[in-house]
Amino acid sequence: MAKTFFITTAIDYTNAAPHIGHAYEKILSDVIARYHRMKGEEVFFLTGVDQHGQKVQQSAEKQGLAPAEFAAGVTEKFIALWTKLGLSHDAWAATTEPLHKDVVRKILQSLYDAGEIYKASYSGFYSVRQEQFLTDKERGEDGEFGPEWGEVVEITEENYYFRLAKHRDWLLSYIDAHPGYVTPAFRQAELRNAVERLSGDLCISRPKARLEWGIELPFDPGYVTYVWFDALVNYISFGGYWNGAEPHNAEFDSRWPALHVIGKDILVPAHGVYWPIILHAAGFTDAEIPPLLVHGYINIGGAKMSKSLGNIVDPAILSEKYGPGALRYYLMREAATGQDMEFSEDRLVIRYNTDLANDLGNLLNRTLNMAKRYRASVVKKPADNAEWLAEIKAVVELYTAKMDGYLTHAALEAAFGLAAKCNAYIETQAPWKLAKDPAQADQLDAVLYNLAEALRVLSILISPVLPEAAAGMAAQLNIPAGLTLADVATPLADGHVLGAPTPLFPRIEIPAAE
Ligand code: MSP
Repeated sequence: MAKTFFITTAIDYTNAAPHIGHAYEKILSDVIARYHRMKGEEVFFLTGVDQHGQKVQQSAEKQGLAPAEFAAGVTEKFIALWTKLGLSHDAWAATTEPLHKDVVRKILQSLYDAGEIYKASYSGFYSVRQEQFLTDKERGEDGEFGPEWGEVVEITEENYYFRLAKHRDWLLSYIDAHPGYVTPAFRQAELRNAVERLSGDLCISRPKARLEWGIELPFDPGYVTYVWFDALVNYISFGGYWNGAEPHNAEFDSRWPALHVIGKDILVPAHGVYWPIILHAAGFTDAEIPPLLVHGYINIGGAKMSKSLGNIVDPAILSEKYGPGALRYYLMREAATGQDMEFSEDRLVIRYNTDLANDLGNLLNRTLNMAKRYRASVVKKPADNAEWLAEIKAVVELYTAKMDGYLTHAALEAAFGLAAKCNAYIETQAPWKLAKDPAQADQLDAVLYNLAEALRVLSILISPVLPEAAAGMAAQLNIPAGLTLADVATPLADGHVLGAPTPLFPRIEIPAAE
């Protein structure tokens, strides 16, 4: 079986509605997935929702709903948003699915049987209000637990622990031997430091008296499993890892390992420590440890988004207001992958008007109009335009190098550089002057052909980020929709008839300030 490009996103908590940070991660992953499809690869793109856990149980309680009902309602919001934003995922990971729960339990049982999970008792300070154990980190300067924790009691609790510390040295040696494990590289260094400080095992159970909304441990019905153990397993359960009698099968092995796209807050410890160690303990080889692409945060007003700050930007409203393409393009063009970005609605509008409406939209419109006016929309292949084609090829090479490194902002910069080049070419060639001089007829043909050919390639390059606009461009250029990178090598045929121009990116009019 040919190797499939498997890409996953973090699965979003269903304790609250989706926000722009969730949308950014999903769009980034969608763009990478679409790019790999366009390279001719088989792609399996998985995203979904994290429906269990204490946060969901608490949010449900506040609304007087059963956790399942509450999680289902929030899940609907995510699905509606992803549909609106044009996500092209191949599978949907909802952790309340019976198949997923079954795989989580099978893995827990096999780790338990292998002696990787043990029972122990723990005594500590417990916040009744926050429903969590507190450590010295939670103590204030006076050494006391602050009022935010409510009543704090000392309790002893029996729980199940996963032998994390035992695999610390393996993880360090794995990281050292695989410099490309985490992208960007500075995050790998950060992870390595954290692993060096690792001590202690991971508590993977919660007594049902404290938390009911989870997957019951197969070896003790008095407990559910910790939500992170449940959530991480989605990557393999929905990848088809254990959907028959035995783990592993040809289909799963043709996909795995996936590229995991996650935010910087969930690298340490969940994805960079717990997950590789869980997989290693479950018998996955070093070659089967999934690489991590760690993106930055979308911030608002210099602050991390929080409900209490009231600075949550609703991606559904933005998409309604400006269209999904405007939002997708803005996020992919302005966020440098791996870095944080300050969200600005003004920048979104500026990017749309400058790059999409002016640079690309007008270019398409002017080209089609001139071809129609001067040549009845028929383009003639020039005798020698090797130099122009070589320049296009260089842009495509730069674009692919950037996309292969997940740098969507730099790839788009390269693509829009080609649009800028075409606009400058129109100014220097002045086709309206060439049209007046019969001796320049061949030159006019060459200019129109070169512009149409560049637009054809641009429609391919923008397609992962702007699939709808790419299809619109293809229709206007009268070329098949869904061309791939391989089609870059086959320029427009001599005598190709271009289609009729219609505005692709109508300008967003900004109401004058009052
Ligand atoms: N449910 C866990 C992930 C489990 S994965 C096995 C979780 N959920 S989350 O809803 O809090 O976050 C989902 C993803 O969105 C994470 O990758 C997180 O980093 C990302 N983001 C959350 N807020 C973000 C921003 N403000 N900006 C960019 N991404 C952010 O963690």
